[in-house]
Amino acid sequence: MLSYRHAYHAGNHADLLKHLVLSLCLQHMNTKDKPYLVLDTHAGAGQYALDAEQAKKTGEYIDGIARLWNRTDLPAALSDYMKALQTCNGGTKLRRYPGSPWLTAHFARQIDTLRFCELHSTDFALLRREFKEAGRRVKVEQNDGFETMKAALPPLSRRGLVLIDPSYEVKSDYLRVLAAIKDGLKRFATGTYLVWLPFLPTLEARNLPEKLKKLPAEWLYASLTVRGPATQGYGMTGSAMFVINPPWTLKAGLTDSLPWLAKTLAMDEKFAWEVLTSDQAASKATAD
Ligand SMILES: C[S@@+](CC[C@H](N)C(=O)[O-])C[C@H]1O[C@@H](n2cnc3c(N)ncnc32)[C@H](O)[C@@H]1O
Repeated sequence: MLSYRHAYHAGNHADLLKHLVLSLCLQHMNTKDKPYLVLDTHAGAGQYALDAEQAKKTGEYIDGIARLWNRTDLPAALSDYMKALQTCNGGTKLRRYPGSPWLTAHFARQIDTLRFCELHSTDFALLRREFKEAGRRVKVEQNDGFETMKAALPPLSRRGLVLIDPSYEVKSDYLRVLAAIKDGLKRFATGTYLVWLPFLPTLEARNLPEKLKKLPAEWLYASLTVRGPATQGYGMTGSAMFVINPPWTLKAGLTDSLPWLAKTLAMDEKFAWEVLTSDQAASKATAD
């Protein structure tokens, strides 16, 4: 039984990193004419009202998207993502936060195919309603996203991006992410895979990025830390995105924007960011 609802967390620092990376990757994919598939394995509700009970209860967006909303000094790489947010809000007041399906539908073109998987019945119903008039390019499924990867890959057009964004409320998600990527690379070696990773003080959370780095593929790892560990040792201090077969433009976009984003979202003086690629890791290993 799933209890996680993304509505409590929409627009927080982790969403900003994840959605910035997603937006930059999709914008790069649009530079070629050939259509592509986007598979969002853990889609959530599509978009979120920031005045809803859930968002108000945690207030996470206040230290997330609300800190960016009226800023006029955004780094260039953040500007199209912020324009998408303004479109979603339809005005100057921040009322809504777009989730990964909304942003994907915004950035992808009419020729592209979008598949959104969501298991939770409440969020699935909201997601289906969000895209009920979207036409044939969008397929909304109440299916297990990991299983759907097997059926969907490789895409007919041989161009595709898979976003894997579990809540990790069950520990088996860590193993399933790794297995799904391994299997995905066998079916579709040239696909771009985006995995969201929480910074939590657990062995599973620490090990997953290290295991992903050992896969036989090019990768980019980008992290955003907003605070030091709490005294009790619990709680998420930040998050990372692991991108397999990253677009060549992604590193520059993140290097341009993450220092500003980390400083803007900092909760204490332990804020930090990192962008690391498989090339850099390989040359460091050779030098050592
Ligand atoms: C972190 S939220 C997704 C947020 C969304 N990707 C976004 O960025 O807006 C994770 C979602 O995955 C759903 N979920 C959990 N396990 C799933 C699975 N195996 N397949 C599909 N959805 C799943 C949860 O119900 C939850 O809504």
